[in-house]
Amino acid sequence: MLSLYQNIKIYFNALYSNSSHIYNQPKVADLEHDFERYSLIKRYPDLEQTIQSIFANKVGDVSVEAVLQKLEFKNSDEEVLKQIGFKQLKSKPEVGIILKHTDIPGWLIKKNYHSYKDQNKNNWLIKKVSAPSHHFPSWMLPPNLQQKVKKGGEIGIRAFNGFINPLRVVMLKRGRQWIKKLHLNHLKACKEYLYRLPHPDPQLPRHCRYVVFSKEENLLNQSESLKYFAMLAETRPERLKVIVHQICLFIKHTHLTDMHIDNMRFLDDETDTLVLFDGEPIGAVSEASEENVAKIFEEYDAGFYPLLGLKKLQSSIYDSFNFMQINPNSIEKMQRIFNQEINQISQEIIAERYWHRLKEKISKFSFTKSVLNSVANLITSISERIFSYFLPQAPLLHIPLIDYELDEE
Ligand SMILES: Nc1ncnc2c1ncn2[C@@H]1O[C@H](COP(=O)(O)OP(=O)(O)O)[C@@H](O)[C@H]1O
Ligand SMILES: [Mg+2]
Repeated sequence: MLSLYQNIKIYFNALYSNSSHIYNQPKVADLEHDFERYSLIKRYPDLEQTIQSIFANKVGDVSVEAVLQKLEFKNSDEEVLKQIGFKQLKSKPEVGIILKHTDIPGWLIKKNYHSYKDQNKNNWLIKKVSAPSHHFPSWMLPPNLQQKVKKGGEIGIRAFNGFINPLRVVMLKRGRQWIKKLHLNHLKACKEYLYRLPHPDPQLPRHCRYVVFSKEENLLNQSESLKYFAMLAETRPERLKVIVHQICLFIKHTHLTDMHIDNMRFLDDETDTLVLFDGEPIGAVSEASEENVAKIFEEYDAGFYPLLGLKKLQSSIYDSFNFMQINPNSIEKMQRIFNQEINQISQEIIAERYWHRLKEKISKFSFTKSVLNSVANLITSISERIFSYFLPQAPLLHIPLIDYELDEE
């Protein structure tokens, strides 16, 4: 009964909300133009000299800066970085590196590679995010994929690995803004900024000119963090519910798609704070120099990206816990909470988009538009009375309608 009530409520709310701000099509960022917004040195000028002198270091003829702007990773590059005092934290350096240097304490450097060489042929490195197709209504997809939904399998999107690296800063800034605006007090999106290499090779694509600096957080390791989720499900399920609800709102508003549970971890301080650190915008935003990438994404309904992010998270709570030594009952309780919250917000997204599209179609005719508005106003007032009679404490499903460009903290 309650779920019927909730469904009706979702559809009613969706009918009146103007959801277009939440589901704008992927924006094309122009990092050169907006550089100041994301500049590390603008915020931390004291770091400049140290970074410059570390990056100018050479092993033989090869400087660190030269290694950092390369298109591809080579084993010899790892040797250069090691000799200059860098520690490489990532297990697959050919895809990207995460570096730490003792003279730049508290910061990590992130760099994705652009391509790899295979028998002297250059291949693009591409990142994919996908989820089972039954989660997506076919009208959210481009026509060529609509058949695929009927057949089953996975539906997903891709992005060029190199291009998305500097865009991490755009997405995490967006994340910090939404956390602040929606008071998502259990979430923290890492502070990441761009550092423009001082001597960029003009022959290389634009994304090679930047590396990303990420403010290091004291995180639990991957398995400790997964155990923390299960512990919360067992001992404080209400708290877990709030945290998962906040993750869902974060995904809904940022449109981050690669929201695998391994891309978020709890802080190691028992404050129940979950840190989101992987802002790779697979689908959500594109770079100015790759306009054609943005065009691919335009074929999807804009609600597809947050829905994909949620469904990616939902699948990951089954994959990631497979081999963990955790009480199966706790895992099950945890999965139940995730499923409940994710399904609820997914339904909202689908309903909002459905009504938004319908309204757009109808409003092409001004007469029907005015009739529709009066009918909508009438139904709003009646339904709000009914809802408040039955469930006076019910939280409003509306979320504030705000644009992406909010003030930074
Ligand atoms: N700000 C940070 N503080 C501490 N550790 C981090 C931070 N950012 C990334 N990491 C570590 O680096 C790993 C990879 O980072 P991520 O941003 O997910 O890059 P990738 O795109 O390679 O997945 C994470 O799993 C985490 O262990
Ligand atoms: Mg990651």
